[in-house]
Parts: sequence; structure tokens; C-alpha cells
Amino acid sequence: MQQPRVLEPTSAHLPGNISKIRVLLALEEALVEGERLRICDVGCVGPRPFNLWEPLFELYPDRFRLSGLDLFGIEGARSLAAAHGWTVDLRTGSALTIERSFPGERFDVVVSTGVLPVVRDWRRVLASAMEVLSPGGRLLITSPARSYPEPLRLRARRAAARTVSRLPGQAHRWYRGVHADEFQRAAVDAGYRVRQWARCNLALVKTVQNAAQAPNRNEVMRRWWALEDTSSGRERPNEVPTSSPSSSSTCKRSE
Ligand SMILES: C[S@@+](CC[C@H](N)C(=O)[O-])C[C@H]1O[C@@H](n2cnc3c(N)ncnc32)[C@H](O)[C@@H]1O
Repeated sequence: MQQPRVLEPTSAHLPGNISKIRVLLALEEALVEGERLRICDVGCVGPRPFNLWEPLFELYPDRFRLSGLDLFGIEGARSLAAAHGWTVDLRTGSALTIERSFPGERFDVVVSTGVLPVVRDWRRVLASAMEVLSPGGRLLITSPARSYPEPLRLRARRAAARTVSRLPGQAHRWYRGVHADEFQRAAVDAGYRVRQWARCNLALVKTVQNAAQAPNRNEVMRRWWALEDTSSGRERPNEVPTSSPSSSSTCKRSE
């Protein structure tokens, strides 16, 4: 039987980035509506491992089986999961070759948040995710948008890092946002049907949101969330504001 959903976008304990919260709510929707899901989080470590999963482990521990991979930091993530009593199958591996880390395994959902911009050949991540998705499976992605105008200093730093990334062993230093159009084309080329596409989270909102404490943070979130819902992807997936740093997208593998 379908369970009622309980997560609210303004809950203080949810991860702050709006595109990530949209992914979290999409995951909740999938978890309450069907079978137990096999999920793979690609690039799962980052500065705050499992902040996407913590609310779901709390609310729906029996509704999903989580696997994850990352190039770095898997041991630390494993210890954190063990300390919380979460069962997660974690492996060190590349987003470019997910199928090598999980040979013979298939997932109902592949999630990857904030990873495409740090992988030069990000199109291969889409192709590799397709390899491990079961028919009808879903890919949930967030990425900073390349069209967002960054300050000159930051652009210079990123350009220098991209140059360093071409040296042996330095590939992880790459950083470049992904253009909306090129992402959508690449997703279709890799065989996905793009079910939902949305730009979220203007940089200023993100800054205020990160700085504000509850309940102010919740108020910022509530207002921005309502604005996004009326002005962007939720109603007209392809007609959305252009000056946003981050986007979330749901792609579906064909049945
Ligand atoms: C910005 S962090 C995002 C982490 C997490 N998904 C989140 O949303 O908080 C990017 C992550 O991608 C990982 N990463 C970078 N290149 C990778 C690759 N080629 N394969 C797998 N993981 C990679 C990094 O180690 C890091 O953990």
C-alpha cells in the first residue's frame, strides 16, 4: 500500500541546496509508491557524505538498498554509515565506469548530485549509468549550470585547475558547469527520455539560505520554492529562468 509522503522542502534538517532537495523529494515519491528500490549514488562522498540519504534512512529504511561509489573517501563514508547503523554497499570506483564497480548489478535509480562538473568527460557518466540501470530505471542528476556568470577570480581559479587537471593523476581537479542544452542533448544521445528538467536555486538564494538559521532559512526556502514552482520547470519544463547556478533533472531509461 502506498504510504503518505512526509518530507517538506522547508524541513530544517534537509540538505540546503534546492536542486538536491528536489532530488530528495523525487526519491521519496519513488520510495512510497512502489517496490523496494535498488539505488546507486555516483560520487557519493563529497564534503557531507549521506546528507541526501539521512532523511530517507530515518523514514524509509526498508524501502531501498543503497550502493555508492566515489574515487575518494570511501573508507570514511563507510565508517560514518556503520556509526549510524546504515547498511550501504560502498565501493571505490569511477563514475566513468560504474559497471566495473558493480559487475552484473542493476539499479532502479542512479543518483548523482554535483558530480558532472568535476568530470571532464561527463557524457560518459550518463552512458555508464545507462549500463547499470534496469529497464525503465531512472537517473536523477544535479549540476551547476555553465551559463551562470561567475566572478572573474573564480573563473580564473577554475581555468587554472582545468589546466592542472590535464597532468597525470590530477583529473579530479577539473571543474566546469554543464550547459542545459548540451546536457539535454547528451542525455537523449545516451538513450534517456528526459522526464523533468528544472533550473533551481539562484546563487544569491543559496548564499542567503546557507547563512540563515531556521526559522529564517525555512522562510527563504518556502518563498523561493513557491517562486520556482510557479515560474519554472514544474509547469513548463523547458521554459525556465536562465541565470541560475544549478539544475536538477530526471531521466528515464526506456522500458
Ligand atoms: C561536489 S562533490 C558531490 C558529492 C555528493 N554527491 C554531494 O552531493 O554532496 C563531487 C564528488 O564526486 C567525486 N568524484 C569526482 N570525480 C569522480 C569520478 N571520476 N568518479 C567518481 N567520483 C568522482 C568526488 O570525490 C566528490 O566526492
